[in-house]
Amino acid sequence: MILKPLSFTTLAVLFSLIFIGGYVNASGVGLTCPDWPLCPQGLAPGADFIIEYIHRSVAATTGMLVIATTVFAVKSKEGPTGMKITSLIAAGAVIGQIVLGAMVIFERLHAVLVTAHLGLGLVLFSMVLVTFLYAYRIPSRKAIRAVQD
Ligand code: HEM
Repeated sequence: MILKPLSFTTLAVLFSLIFIGGYVNASGVGLTCPDWPLCPQGLAPGADFIIEYIHRSVAATTGMLVIATTVFAVKSKEGPTGMKITSLIAAGAVIGQIVLGAMVIFERLHAVLVTAHLGLGLVLFSMVLVTFLYAYRIPSRKAIRAVQD
């Protein structure tokens, strides 16, 4: 079942993104990519804005992973309703987080927006963590067959 490794990968990439975001904040490089969605050299990285470039690239990867996890969680026949709900909340949160990231740039790191960005990141992490825990509790088809035989 792909949902188990997929939800684990999503959780691990999101965890690293929160670290990178913290570093962007603490090192004061948040406006080195002053535009959105791309940095000054488009898709090409540059030494002057490499940390923010990594934050955005990992955010884009995280967004795709969260959406993919939601698709598989919602389609899962064995998965509980709770897992479908938490994964849908995670999908909403990741879209909101990317929009909020853009607002943080447009409003030049407004303190309220940066704080909301951190808070929504924590909501997102919690929902991805609970989805992952639900996914790991789903018995594999092999285990179900062994019990039935
Ligand atoms: C899944 C998506 C994202 C997550 C989970 C995430 C998470 C975080 C976290 C945890 C921080 C540190 C906040 C703090 O320490 O107060 C941060 C900072 C930041 N994020 Fe994101 N982020 C995401 C997407 C984005 C996007 C798409 C952008 C911009 C296009 C963005 C722009 C920023 C900026 C500029 C900062 C630094 C703010 C400052 O220097 O005060 N983030 N992010």
